[in-house]
Amino acid sequence: MGYRVVVAGATGNVGREMLNILAERQFPVDEIAVLASRRSLGTEVSFGDMTLKTQDLDTFDFEGWDFALFAIGSDATKKYAPVAAKAGCVVIDNSSLYRYDPDVPLIVPECNADAIHQVSKKNIIANPNCSTAQMVVALKPLHDRARIKRVVVSTYQSVSGSGKDAIDELWDQTKAVYNPTADYERKVYPKDIAFNVIPHIDVFLEDGSTKEEWKMVAETKKIIDPAIKVTATCVRVPVFVGHSEAINIEFEDHLDEDEARDILRESPGIMVIDKREDGGYVTPKECVGDFATFISRIRQDSTIDNGLNLWCVSDNLRKGAALNAVQIAEVLGREVLKKG
Ligand SMILES: NC(=O)c1ccc[n+]([C@@H]2O[C@H](COP(=O)([O-])OP(=O)(O)OC[C@H]3O[C@@H](n4cnc5c(N)ncnc54)[C@H](OP(=O)(O)O)[C@@H]3O)[C@@H](O)[C@H]2O)c1
Repeated sequence: MGYRVVVAGATGNVGREMLNILAERQFPVDEIAVLASRRSLGTEVSFGDMTLKTQDLDTFDFEGWDFALFAIGSDATKKYAPVAAKAGCVVIDNSSLYRYDPDVPLIVPECNADAIHQVSKKNIIANPNCSTAQMVVALKPLHDRARIKRVVVSTYQSVSGSGKDAIDELWDQTKAVYNPTADYERKVYPKDIAFNVIPHIDVFLEDGSTKEEWKMVAETKKIIDPAIKVTATCVRVPVFVGHSEAINIEFEDHLDEDEARDILRESPGIMVIDKREDGGYVTPKECVGDFATFISRIRQDSTIDNGLNLWCVSDNLRKGAALNAVQIAEVLGREVLKKG
């Protein structure tokens, strides 16, 4: 016996990837409903070799469905997640709405799968921000060995992290550079993204940081350990898919770069590609469509007592969103729902 599964936001970047991953990982699905807004009613999306037509989330009845993967943004989540949860359908949400709610587990299965048992409090589970998800996969096994004191991270985040309109914006702007007569209007980003980088993701906060930077701080604490201090600078770059991060880590205990490399090689969800030669590292273009978080450039930071630097790359639509949500669903099935 399999599960009755809902994907809300099925016409979006993350929703489409969720359908791909459910099919790729052969998740035991008995029945699947794909939802979006009324404006895309009847839009066709693929699930394995099936073509499904989207239904209107606003009129959907969640009664009798096991769980719903939500990828619809915070405003719509605020309206619809409580409806689904109340109907007994567990919501696995990709927006930031519930991530910091103490009654909602925030889960990256490689780090804190046990938190799944808190699901009963609200029937809602939160998926982390894309830049946090890949970073904590890398940090957790190193923290278990040498206790992390402080992390300094700079991100290089692709436009797919801002939704499907941002992908069009990079594409249209790039074409307009070569053909200045082409029509294009900037809608998503406050400055040009083509052939540029923008040190600003999400809204500004009072202390001068951005919400994206704050998310990396708060979510790392909730997922791994409240004692870890994180300072982040989040930057949007003209890459379609794949987030990169330069991470500097300070530990309580000494951790040699070779031991760190061995630990990471053995850890779940990680692929180490770290050759000290031309091309002996991973770039975002190479990680697209992959499940792994790739770690390269592992090296001692000799400016502090117990420091390491590394380069971390992952497909933000996968580990940063859809894959992590499906992995949570797998844990939910195994540990809580126990069907199939
Ligand atoms: N992209 C990433 O790397 C990433 C990573 C982590 C988390 N997330 C989060 O995942 C969510 C989705 O992101 P995305 O990149 O997939 O966005 P997207 O490509 O813009 O897609 C948005 C989806 O939400 C649906 N939607 C929006 N408002 C709705 C409403 N009122 N009622 C029903 N459906 C509605 C859209 O349906 P229509 O097509 O009908 O408009 C579409 O299917 C966001 O919360 C985002 O913050 C994204």
